[in-house]
Amino acid sequence: MNYLTWSVVFVISLRTVLCEKQLGRRRVVPVIYLQGSHYDVGFDVGRNFAAIIKSFISSYGNLRDFEKEYKTDTGRNAYDKTLANMKKRFPYYVKEMQGVADGANVPFHQLFLLQMDDIIGTINDNHLPRNDTGGCSSLAIKTPNSAVLGHTEDAFSETLNHFYIMSAHIIPTQEDRELGAIEERFSSLCYAGQLPGYTMGYNENGLVFSINTLSPLVLKPGNTPRTFITRALLASKSYADAERILRDEGLGIGNGFSMNMIWTNKAGEKQIYNAEVAPDLKGDRSILNIHKYLDEPLVHTNIYQRIPIKEVIGPIIDSSTFRLKIIHDHAPPHTQKDIKDILSDTNGIEFQVFQEKKDSIIKTIAAGIFDLDKMTWSIFINKPNISEPVAILPIRFSMLDKSDQ
Ligand SMILES: *[C@@H]1O[C@H](CO)[C@@H](O)[C@H](O)[C@H]1NC(C)=O
Ligand SMILES: *[C@@H]1O[C@H](CO)[C@@H](O)[C@H](O)[C@H]1NC(C)=O
Repeated sequence: MNYLTWSVVFVISLRTVLCEKQLGRRRVVPVIYLQGSHYDVGFDVGRNFAAIIKSFISSYGNLRDFEKEYKTDTGRNAYDKTLANMKKRFPYYVKEMQGVADGANVPFHQLFLLQMDDIIGTINDNHLPRNDTGGCSSLAIKTPNSAVLGHTEDAFSETLNHFYIMSAHIIPTQEDRELGAIEERFSSLCYAGQLPGYTMGYNENGLVFSINTLSPLVLKPGNTPRTFITRALLASKSYADAERILRDEGLGIGNGFSMNMIWTNKAGEKQIYNAEVAPDLKGDRSILNIHKYLDEPLVHTNIYQRIPIKEVIGPIIDSSTFRLKIIHDHAPPHTQKDIKDILSDTNGIEFQVFQEKKDSIIKTIAAGIFDLDKMTWSIFINKPNISEPVAILPIRFSMLDKSDQ
């Protein structure tokens, strides 16, 4: 590139950054309905959301670090090994990502680096304290007739105004079917340009879920990035199937997360679970601890509550400890209103449950309430107990209605 081109690029990216700063908190929930093969669905997401995908890629500070690591030998080796493994295990999800890259006209490697996240970020220097993403709080309860899951979707402030919801019916190509792909029906919130599944949503087999990022200190470069596991979970048919996907026998997860699940069966019965998942440094599978909640409410933030594992130190841990304390200062939730009140709590100077301070690095970009009585998923941009949802999506469990005959 010559000097003039460089200055043009510089001016354009500076303008993007300035505009983003002035945008504030947009009250918008883009939803896209899709049908087709993995590649086609990815392509249509990329084509329709190219502007916000490009805006996110150009403004996301962590990606600059990931790109720096990618240029080193160790970084490039970890990238190549991870990609080769994912092409073997989940080739159709790699094609879905290629579709997004082609549709949005952005380089595939940038999208793949986003999936590797802390695995690539720490490849040459596992520094502490670490500024890891995460600040999601999840709460779930059984109600007399049903169940409710509430979740604040918290992310680096660059993610504010950079997400959308995919409501997809995936019909795999014959080639992908032979590689193991199956028909999928799900709705998931997605960070711009990233795989669906690593946030909150539902699938039509009876699963409603939310995710909390967890940060083990020691990661396994080359192993399955957590976002591929959560992408695969969108296809899970039952609790047992979800457990198999989480375990990822034969390779295992490379970093950490927790998943809050409410499974509804054909009889309409509901079970609440939290799964903590961590890299197994001794074996080719994920370490898994699943807790089933009978009467007590599920509460989870961004620290391991059951797997004894060495975690990072840094804001993700301090914020989680603080949020857990604030949540437990409230009386245990019994109703949907109780959940909304807790998720709307802004007490705290450095950290809050609902993080909306202008200068916080991690911000609540949306809050979701899944009401399994009314079968609705309400999405709030502002505090859920004092604002109306910006969108109310239907929850459909179409696969449960199908009779077995
Ligand atoms: C973490 O973020 C803080 C605040 O932006 C910054 O001062 C610090 O240098 C960052 N640390 C690392 C290791 O990136
Ligand atoms: C909303 O939640 C906050 C935090 O729990 C609480 O202080 C406030 O009273 C609630 N507002 C309403 C209108 O219920």
